[in-house]
Amino acid sequence: MTFNPTRRGCIALGLASASLPPSLATAQPAPDAAASRGAAASVILVNAAARPGVGLSGAWRYSIDPYRDGAEGFHGAAAGKGHRRYDDVDVETEMRDDPSALYEYDMAQSPTADLPGAWMGHDPQLRHYQGLMWYRRDFEARRAGSRRAHLRIGAADYRTAVYLNGVHVGDHEGGHTPFAFDVTALLRDGLNSVTLGVDSVRSPASVPPPVTDWETYGGVTRDIALIDTPATFIDDAWVRLAPNGRIVATIVLNGPDRAGRTVRVRIGGPGMTLEGRTDQNGEWTGSGPAPRGLALWSPEAPTLHDVDFEADGDRLSDRVGFRTIAVSGEDILLNGHPVFLRGICLHEEEFGPDPARIITPEAARALLSEAKTGLNCNFVRLAHYPHSEIMTRIADELGLLVWSEVPVYWRVDFANAGTLATARAMLADNIRRDRNRASIILWSVGNETPVGDARNAFLTTLARDVRALDDSRLVTAALLTERDRRNGVTEIRISDPLVAELDVMAVNTYNGWYSDDPLDALPAMRWRSDFAKPLIFSEFGADASAGFRDPMRLRKFSEEFQAEYYRQTLAMAESIPFLRGLSPWILKDFRSPRRQHPVFQKGWNRKGLVTETGRRKQAFAVLADHYARLAALAPAAPGDPGFRTPRRRSF
Ligand code: GCU
Repeated sequence: MTFNPTRRGCIALGLASASLPPSLATAQPAPDAAASRGAAASVILVNAAARPGVGLSGAWRYSIDPYRDGAEGFHGAAAGKGHRRYDDVDVETEMRDDPSALYEYDMAQSPTADLPGAWMGHDPQLRHYQGLMWYRRDFEARRAGSRRAHLRIGAADYRTAVYLNGVHVGDHEGGHTPFAFDVTALLRDGLNSVTLGVDSVRSPASVPPPVTDWETYGGVTRDIALIDTPATFIDDAWVRLAPNGRIVATIVLNGPDRAGRTVRVRIGGPGMTLEGRTDQNGEWTGSGPAPRGLALWSPEAPTLHDVDFEADGDRLSDRVGFRTIAVSGEDILLNGHPVFLRGICLHEEEFGPDPARIITPEAARALLSEAKTGLNCNFVRLAHYPHSEIMTRIADELGLLVWSEVPVYWRVDFANAGTLATARAMLADNIRRDRNRASIILWSVGNETPVGDARNAFLTTLARDVRALDDSRLVTAALLTERDRRNGVTEIRISDPLVAELDVMAVNTYNGWYSDDPLDALPAMRWRSDFAKPLIFSEFGADASAGFRDPMRLRKFSEEFQAEYYRQTLAMAESIPFLRGLSPWILKDFRSPRRQHPVFQKGWNRKGLVTETGRRKQAFAVLADHYARLAALAPAAPGDPGFRTPRRRSF
């Protein structure tokens, strides 16, 4: 994502004295997610990339701090003068001018690295480092009039403290959602220095907790920028096509003159304008009948329209697709027509032998094109956390439906109020960032979490948050199942009480991989559900070490086993009358510290249909052919090329 050409913001002068905050060293979850944003009020800055500003991605100095010396002293008090990486000092000058001065860091002479990108990509010695890392860079800023400056980080894993010119601006918890702070009062006319303290270590109260099945890419993994806005600006803006055929638009202003302001939404193409006046909180929602002839968005015809959100003195432009998504009984309806989701899962990890979670537009396009064109997909599950906004924008462009989720994964501390607050903030930030992306149809609130009262309450809260934040999409979660043996038939049953809160049931199933079922026994398995709702196989998969062949014995980790596993699992899937989608695990082999077989894995989860460098395995063609066949059966929807009157349920 590139920001508009560097343009000097006009910044009001004024320095705030801010007491330094609790240190990073204690690494406890914030009692309240909002509080984790620290001193400065947080802003949403929807579609920030469309705003002018100073791009701060690029070369940063970095200093490793495994014992968090820059965050607290050796007896636990505040860090001392010679240790605070964020202090607004030139260490070399200080030590040269005062022989008694002692500094045990010097950011200005520390090594540099290009951000965004996880620190494991800075230096081979950092491959397995988990802890606190300090980043710092200087930048020029100018100011004039009453415009405001916001420091925005697209994502930093896992906990971040932000300092500007030596003053603590705020903190953020969570490794995959953007955060921004109004720094207008702290910005200097001329040279400024920004310091980030990023700590990758999670606690049992974190979201996710320490144990997952993917690599922790510690560091700053998405763009950083100083965003320039008017004193009162459009902080949140959302437009969508409601099931009743009306276009609904919301604008939220931030600033001293937010109340009672005229706001407007203009939609290009067939043309439509909605206009209104904000309430005393600076908020407005309006609607109108969709213009006749409005081209709808779909995977077959991913039409995007130019949309301008306007308020006195501010304008924000975006490219937005209009579609509806709903459930009817056991069907998922896209633009009113039944759709079958031909999907695949992805982690946020670029192709290449040594990924560092650097998702450029080219990297995103390579991953999503292999799904869309290589596998004949119309759907991707962006697991297990909010992916880069670059991915969801390119999914809009290519025509891929998206499942987006927060990392409420496995052993979350469901009884911890701080953990719930963190998860709620993460979910809200993800939804507010991406609500204008037509590709996203599902918000997922959990993955393979064990049923229990605390977990049910936790996930119910999240499911209801989704409905409050976005009434235009569906709610789901990847669930576990129960397995019985009746009259010689294996029966898999979905009875999770959480389903009552969901629109779509999703299940991760690994019969034949994490069980000793013979693969040819899979098609006879019977699936039962206590609910009349659509089901998605949100995961199934088997490891294959590319090039390991064993055609005779079908040993696990062989390509032949993975291919046969897919054939048999797909045959089982075809027998489930309420199944409406598949997202096998996973497009690409990915890094996981849990996977240490010294021959087949070596720190990689090998369930990919392609290797980390994109080499396709035998099972790739099995799924691609299956999806090609389903696509051929799928009647297109009105407006899509090749639309035919629907004869039967689409696949
Ligand atoms: C689980 C989990 C994934 C994991 C996969 C596996 O279902 O959701 O994160 O990688 O199984 O075991 O490979």
